[in-house]
Amino acid sequence: MKAVILVGGQGTRLRPLTLTTPKPMVPLANKPFVSYVLERLRDHGISEVVFSMGYLPDGIKSYFGDGSDFGLKVTYVTEDRPLGTAGAVKNVEEYVRDGDFLVLNGDILTDLDLRSLIDYHNSKDAVGTIALTPVEDPTAYGLVRTGEDGAVLGFLEKPSWDQINTNLINAGTYVLKSEVFDLIPPGREYSFERGVFPQLVGKGLYGYRSDSYWMDIGTPEKYLQAHYDILEKNVETSVSDCLDQDFVCMQGEVHLEAGAKLVPPVIIGEGCVIKAGARVGRMAIIGAGCTIESGSVVEESILQEGCTLEENVVVRHSIIARGASVGKGTIVAGGAIIGEGARVEGDNILTNHVRIYPGTVIREGSIKF
Ligand code: GTP
Repeated sequence: MKAVILVGGQGTRLRPLTLTTPKPMVPLANKPFVSYVLERLRDHGISEVVFSMGYLPDGIKSYFGDGSDFGLKVTYVTEDRPLGTAGAVKNVEEYVRDGDFLVLNGDILTDLDLRSLIDYHNSKDAVGTIALTPVEDPTAYGLVRTGEDGAVLGFLEKPSWDQINTNLINAGTYVLKSEVFDLIPPGREYSFERGVFPQLVGKGLYGYRSDSYWMDIGTPEKYLQAHYDILEKNVETSVSDCLDQDFVCMQGEVHLEAGAKLVPPVIIGEGCVIKAGARVGRMAIIGAGCTIESGSVVEESILQEGCTLEENVVVRHSIIARGASVGKGTIVAGGAIIGEGARVEGDNILTNHVRIYPGTVIREGSIKF
């Protein structure tokens, strides 16, 4: 079976990280996010993958190449303009129409058992099977109602509490028969959720419930949460093996000065320098080649590769993108995001989900937010 991975979206909710890096290439525990999707496909016996791309496609192509490093054959198709989830799949029809195929949103971290999903699809002889996952707050999502036999009975878009009779949502992974292509108009924007699936209700559309780990990494809070879940091994990923029994993972040679403190769980990238008197963790992921000076603290946060924290910086529940630097005594907290290559000088306070754009320079003591 072949798989189409949808990676064409602009990832607006994850800005400013996605202004310079497409969402699938935003690092998760120091690897491009979508590499976890590829690993999962490969581990479930999928050998051919089509990337359906749009926004910033070049980085994806150059990183994955022909896919052989991942044990996969990878093909790339780039849209001239966004075609929506179903339009994007119609656009790659020629590569997958020779049988049933998988479609995956490229921004979902999950350990869903794809084999069981495919077996279920086959056992029902379904035209389409949607993986479903339960959520705590059903009002925030489009819900999927199924009958006892698993057939989809209908969809409820962001319902009020009195309308709710299910907590299952579309998990962004589908198995489809090629006849689904007949339902998608070519060359224009079209969606599975609003276009294709409602047409298939009562005509061979099934839902497959899974209680596996599931997280859409598309917002900063969920992106952070996905990291915490990797650190706590709530989700099975290729990083799990590196986290030792003390929940510390060093991804290569790290220079940890005597008197520097790691508080697990933590992941430290190759070539990092952590000076005496600095504290990293708990819940910190540090990208390769970062320098953390004395007196600085990083907790519940992500530093992408090549970041520098000068002395006495505090980073808490925040994200610092590749190559950014933070000057002495600055506090970065409360869901703040510092974009790629930005420079925040000393004595600033960035909190309250403030987002600093890539390359920006914030002068000393100018923000107390
Ligand atoms: P937001 O702008 O933050 O909503 O993110 P997004 O653009 O990624 O949209 P969304 O999270 O709804 O998309 C779900 C998945 O479908 C992601 O993996 C997207 O990359 C992908 N996707 C969304 N729209 C398109 C499209 O028009 N073409 C392609 N090829 N993929 C798309």
